[in-house]
Amino acid sequence: MSALFQPFTLKDVTLRNRIAVPPMCQYSATDGLINDWHQVHLAALARGGAGLVIVEATAVAPEGRITPGCAGIWNDQLAQAFVPAVKAIKAAGSVPGIQIAHAGRKASANRPWEGDDHIADSDARGWQTIAPSALPFGANLPKQPEAMSLDDIARVRDDFVAAAQRARDVGFEWLELHFAHGYLGQSFFSAHSNQRDDAYGGSVEKRSRFLLETLAAVREVWPENLPLTARFGVIEFDGRDEQTMLDSIELTRQFKAAGLDMLSVSIGFSTPDAKIPWAPGFMGPIAERVRREAGIPVSSAWGFGEPHIAEKAVKDGQLDLVMVGKAHLANPHWAYFAARELGIDKASWTLPAPYAHWLERY
Ligand SMILES: Cc1cc2nc3c(=O)[nH]c(=O)nc-3n(C[C@H](O)[C@H](O)[C@H](O)COP(=O)(O)O)c2cc1C
Repeated sequence: MSALFQPFTLKDVTLRNRIAVPPMCQYSATDGLINDWHQVHLAALARGGAGLVIVEATAVAPEGRITPGCAGIWNDQLAQAFVPAVKAIKAAGSVPGIQIAHAGRKASANRPWEGDDHIADSDARGWQTIAPSALPFGANLPKQPEAMSLDDIARVRDDFVAAAQRARDVGFEWLELHFAHGYLGQSFFSAHSNQRDDAYGGSVEKRSRFLLETLAAVREVWPENLPLTARFGVIEFDGRDEQTMLDSIELTRQFKAAGLDMLSVSIGFSTPDAKIPWAPGFMGPIAERVRREAGIPVSSAWGFGEPHIAEKAVKDGQLDLVMVGKAHLANPHWAYFAARELGIDKASWTLPAPYAHWLERY
């Protein structure tokens, strides 16, 4: 019996299998507004059979976009644009999720295929970035952010709350807060980027404060019966990993106490000097440790796109959900492909009949 194709229930939501499409920016929106590209992309992924489809990092404020092409949800018009995608994902038997995000000091960048670096200060397409401290990331992202005032911090927290309300109102059933990858939430937690000496920086407790306050405020508006999750970089691979893991696990316990239902275990990406040991499924043991020590369901990504690796991660108790990213760009019907590869009975295939009927004999 396959572990990957077992249903998974969190709060009132049941996923048909343990396969999730993680958020993947398409860099194809205009002033935050998504378009036909996103509708087709998201519908195709849901039709492909994944249990959960999480919409890309969607900015809670204009200055929180990574690039000028990133999606936004800072007003009702932008939120309404997600309605067709939400309907299509549900109609395909999948669950619609969204990641809400603020890119902090990594914002105002060129699209990956147009350089992946900060937009030059002289270029009108760019904007002033904000962060816990006026410290640039470095490398390809040298732009100096403005240190956030206490008013800025309260405003961005409220932006997350308003974004969560809009996501709820247009029918999303799964919310993920982006606290990973060196963007704003992660950059409050990491000493690489947070050198404040007020209530939001210094000790690990103070560096955790923005994340915990934002989570608690969002939990108040996000329906109690729907999953509230966060993506969080629990490790930096910067040589201080055991301490970071201990701090991250402690924060995850506090997230859980504040109402978090699941953690998407990821990497901090707070410093360009990280030495990341890329390998298929390498985040599995790290996620398993968070799951065990913080006592919370976990997902993870990074190199689980080979069906036997994904199956093993669930079977071995490393992951509750497997995030399969680039393999879904290569093949939106990855779940069907995995089912065949793993010898799953046709009755459990998740392709829609207009495809499945023919492929049973193919
Ligand atoms: C095109 C692209 C866009 C991405 N955008 C996001 C994003 O919006 N939010 C996020 O948390 N991760 C993002 N990621 C990271 C993916 O969610 C995932 O962690 C990564 O692709 C590794 O998984 P994989 O090896 O299965 O591809 C992106 C990755 C890709 C390839």
